[in-house]
Amino acid sequence: MSIKSSAITPEKVYKRRRVLMAAGAGVLGVPLINKAYGLFQDKQEVEAPFPQVVSLPGEKNQPLIPTPYETITTYNNYYEFGVGKDDPSKAAKTLTTSPWSVDIGGEGSDKPGRYDIADIKGESAIENHIYRFRCVEAWSMVIPWNGIKLSDVIKFALPNSKAKYVRFTTINDPQQMPNAGWAGGPYVEGLTIEEAMNPLTLLSTGIYDKPLEQQNGAPIRLVVPWKYGFKYAKSIVKIELVEKMPKNTWWLQNKREYGFYANVNPQFSHPRWTQATERVIGELGRKPTLLYNGYAQEVAHLYPDLDNRLYFY
Ligand code: MTE
Repeated sequence: MSIKSSAITPEKVYKRRRVLMAAGAGVLGVPLINKAYGLFQDKQEVEAPFPQVVSLPGEKNQPLIPTPYETITTYNNYYEFGVGKDDPSKAAKTLTTSPWSVDIGGEGSDKPGRYDIADIKGESAIENHIYRFRCVEAWSMVIPWNGIKLSDVIKFALPNSKAKYVRFTTINDPQQMPNAGWAGGPYVEGLTIEEAMNPLTLLSTGIYDKPLEQQNGAPIRLVVPWKYGFKYAKSIVKIELVEKMPKNTWWLQNKREYGFYANVNPQFSHPRWTQATERVIGELGRKPTLLYNGYAQEVAHLYPDLDNRLYFY
């Protein structure tokens, strides 16, 4: 067995170097990405195989250095637990996430059903993706997600010709959530069926190989890396294939400021702040925001008429 370079390089430098190597390596670099990813767990595991990682073009050529776990799990937006960034990590432990089932149906499904979370996970391969995460509030992180492709779950439901959009509803339980009433009902989000079937789109079940914590949307939440973070509905209880565009919570809250598509676009400012740059949590200064958050190659084809599809209805 070869000598681990972790044995001769300070851990921090080593991790950073491996991530940069992995990020530059592209498709040929899948094994490197596997190792680099595993490193954030435990440097001892560097030589262990880490299967099921899928490298997508948007993950190439970007030095993606994951945000520390501690930051990802303590700087959150989950208004049902309070509106401060540290409220969810303090309050969300009251949310019971097991047992958990998800209703999958809607008029666009020929096989609606209630699925236990274990069955959903058991039927689909868990993938690992290090994605950029950009909040509409102009801050960002890099998150190593574990999750399944949303497209796999949609296929269980046998979509028919009415499946034009996907509507996600999240848990809304005043017994377990101190601020459950903030939006006047459950948090709802939506995607077009094409967005939902895109291989970048995940239903996440973990971060850094640990099961999702409640504040991050346990036990299952949406991940759509080219869109602003409010699309990432947390603690999902219902997924419906529907004919009409869903009315999503933030659009209902303030139609002038939040849209349905909500694609990351540095040229299209929020009415109250610029989206041209972002504050990387844990770093000094700001960096330029990328169109589609850096995933244009994978998703730009979904939006042939860019102007009206980037933000609003
Ligand atoms: N889902 C629910 N149910 N309630 C929320 O308040 N906030 C959204 C999204 N999903 C939210 C939600 C917003 S605004 C963001 S930026 C992300 O979750 C934050 O995810 P994170 O806390 O895991 O970073």
